[in-house]
Amino acid sequence: MTLLQVKDLQVRFAAPGSGLFGINRQWVQAVNGVSLSLAAGQVLGLVGESGSGKSTLGRAILRLNDMTAGQILFDGVDMAQGGRLDIERLRHETAMIFQDPYAALNPRLSIGETLAEVLRVRGTVAAPLIRQRVDELLTLVGLRPELARRKPGSLSGGQCQRVGIARALAIEPRLIIADECVAALDVSIQGQIINLLLELRQRMNLAILFIAHDLAIVRRLCDRVAVMYLGHIVEEGPTEAVFGSPRHPYTAALIQSIPQIDPTRPLLGDPLPGEPPSPLNIPSGCAFHPRCRYAQPICAVTPPPLHDLNGHRYRCVLGEPLL
Ligand SMILES: Nc1ncnc2c1ncn2[C@@H]1O[C@H](COP(=O)(O)OP(=O)(O)OP(=O)(O)O)[C@@H](O)[C@H]1O
Ligand code: SF4
Ligand SMILES: [Mg+2]
Repeated sequence: MTLLQVKDLQVRFAAPGSGLFGINRQWVQAVNGVSLSLAAGQVLGLVGESGSGKSTLGRAILRLNDMTAGQILFDGVDMAQGGRLDIERLRHETAMIFQDPYAALNPRLSIGETLAEVLRVRGTVAAPLIRQRVDELLTLVGLRPELARRKPGSLSGGQCQRVGIARALAIEPRLIIADECVAALDVSIQGQIINLLLELRQRMNLAILFIAHDLAIVRRLCDRVAVMYLGHIVEEGPTEAVFGSPRHPYTAALIQSIPQIDPTRPLLGDPLPGEPPSPLNIPSGCAFHPRCRYAQPICAVTPPPLHDLNGHRYRCVLGEPLL
């Protein structure tokens, strides 16, 4: 069952310092016509270089950012048109997990107070049962209930991130948006958090939009993956199809940029030269053309066509697998 459907979403920001009093204002087109869908129990990875618009897309879906145009259907209801009650329901059924586990928690409140506060606001657990529910939530994310008395400052990064997940789960969400939620953690702790998310997805039929730079983690965790470049989704499909036979040169370059552990594999030249262009000045035609090793003259002129191979979609003039 489709839980979330995003159609042709656009988000733009006025560029800082541009257009005093609105004259000659420049716009950063951070999300540029994105469409995607997510079913209950599904994990969708969202990858792409810094500045490609991943966080802006995640925040716009939860209506934490204003959107400029498009539709966000949550359970079939268009949140872009939604009234106060619709947005409130969205808040009650979705949660976000952030990158910095310490910054996301109030340092003055104990862990137990933080979780109890969410439960009180949510209002689905009777006051006398809140303590017990806090203990259950901590156990669910693999922490001892005694930790409820501690403040965030006395916990490790991994423990704090588990508390962040417990706080997200406290509202019993159907959709979680995790924005670089393991990036700040040690590799072994990352593995534990990923296993925890997989287990919770299974147990609670959670849908997760998992935003990350780390392609190896995305490959392990996600059912599907979407690749973003300068506000566009350039390729999207089942994880194994996208990683196993990428169709878009940008995806192929990202995969080839993963450090190889295998010393017998030949080293490529830089698969992804240069930086993405400024989002204030998005190249014409295919936005990737200035960096694309397969670019043809038409790529600078015409937006590339969308191909759909049984749900593996990509936008490029090329028609063959690249790796
Ligand atoms: N509030 C804002 N005002 C102006 N520009 C913004 C704002 N938020 C984001 N941007 C711009 O929008 C673009 C997309 O940013 P976003 O943070 O969504 O990228 P990202 O893919 O999450 O990057 P990262 O991987 O570094 O987290 C960037 O060019 C960024 O500078
Ligand atoms: S459309 Fe052209 S420039 Fe864009 S990714 Fe494909 S080959 Fe490269
Ligand atoms: Mg981000």
